[in-house]
Amino acid sequence: MINRPIWLDDKTKSIMERTIMREQSLSRLLMTYIVTGVVFMLLPGTFLGVWNLIKISSREAAESISPAWIQAHGHAQLFGWVGTFILGIGFYSIPKLRKLKPFALWEGWLCWELWTTGVLIRWFSDIYPWHWRILLPLSAVMELVAFAIFFRAVASHRPAGGTSANFAPWIFVVIAATLGLLTSLLLNVGACMQIALNADSPAFPHEFDQRYLIVSTWGFLVPMVWGFSSRWLTVFLGLRPLRNSFLLVALVLNTAGVVAGFIEQFVIATMLLLAGAISAIAAIRFFEPAAKAAKTINVHPSFPLFVRIAYAWLLIAAALSIWAALMDEAPGIWGASRHALTVGFIAAMVFCVGQRVLPSFCGMRVLWSPKLMLVMLILLMTGCTLRVSSEILAYEDYAKWAWDILPISALIELTAVGLFALNLIVTFAHPPVVAPSPLTITTE
Ligand code: HEM
Repeated sequence: MINRPIWLDDKTKSIMERTIMREQSLSRLLMTYIVTGVVFMLLPGTFLGVWNLIKISSREAAESISPAWIQAHGHAQLFGWVGTFILGIGFYSIPKLRKLKPFALWEGWLCWELWTTGVLIRWFSDIYPWHWRILLPLSAVMELVAFAIFFRAVASHRPAGGTSANFAPWIFVVIAATLGLLTSLLLNVGACMQIALNADSPAFPHEFDQRYLIVSTWGFLVPMVWGFSSRWLTVFLGLRPLRNSFLLVALVLNTAGVVAGFIEQFVIATMLLLAGAISAIAAIRFFEPAAKAAKTINVHPSFPLFVRIAYAWLLIAAALSIWAALMDEAPGIWGASRHALTVGFIAAMVFCVGQRVLPSFCGMRVLWSPKLMLVMLILLMTGCTLRVSSEILAYEDYAKWAWDILPISALIELTAVGLFALNLIVTFAHPPVVAPSPLTITTE
């Protein structure tokens, strides 16, 4: 095939050059968010989680380690890893998907600086309680201001054509998730100020922490994954058309579940969360025969299978939470439900969808190793299955031998997470397959 030069006038050439430069700057911004998220995932997040679990297992007592260390791990995973990924992908994709006028790039960089510093300070003040009465509220305020900058950039700009945006149902779901993030950050500011004034340690009190976690997992991360699943997975998996009304029902049930959980009506809350998850799956039609072949180019062909397994984990997480709520005090079942959700569903979805979209978003790259993607997904699912089952058996005193399985599950999950980081970082280190360049454009 012969590449003919395209003859363009100066005005068109300059518009194209600006578009290409903007795309390159956006990709750089996104890559910075993703690498930051990967760093949070590896060290403050997973490594600390593994450390905590090894200590718990060696002492055979869930309550034997500092709650602040557990919360440092949870915050680094939810906000440092997944939250940073979501902000970066949001900056890159939401204005394009909604055809909004472009935001100023400095907003994206300022948000990154405040968010990263805020989450890092939070982690340090949980681990080393040095001046924590000042640092803890400061970190929470920095995270909130970073969110405000993000929100202004991706939500307040008008559509490029000047007309009002046509809100597809998936956008409602993403907006609800964004409000879930805002609520989590406001609760975080309130709680950090409260404990800085009145408490003896930087850890949130246990009862508040349980309610807060329902908001930040089911109220923020779960609908965010549903929103992007309805936008992208219908196409990537060749699914039948989305059932919009079911998706909105799912959102209403889930929001009602989060509110009920926050006011400590855990049995009703968990039943609503399960009903919401079932409606979301029925809406996106994951378990119905596909209408078209899945688009698995540049990822491992098993990608659609693992997405379906991740949604099965969502159901398991919700079902386990009902069991935990009925049992009242059951830390092993609550913990198992939480990790079925965070590892089985959220981390697996980030691994699947992240490796499908991020290489091309980050400057038209191709995933380094689809085979490694398969290996890490198998390891993640194996580690998660061992973790969820043995956490119930060990913590609830059903089987003593299960304490020996927990560290093994943690090391398997750590390997999976490490391989995900390796695949992504090597992908970013390779040059783009298609380099957008104004040099290919000539004028007369
Ligand atoms: C190698 C993988 C992981 C290990 C070994 C691990 C370990 C732990 C441990 C030992 C706890 C203490 C409570 C319990 O025993 O259940 C915990 C809590 C928690 N983990 Fe993980 N975890 C891992 C992955 C993740 C991931 C991927 C996420 C989120 C994306 C996550 C989010 C949380 C949260 C939110 C909590 C509760 C924190 C709190 O009580 O405030 N974990 N984790």
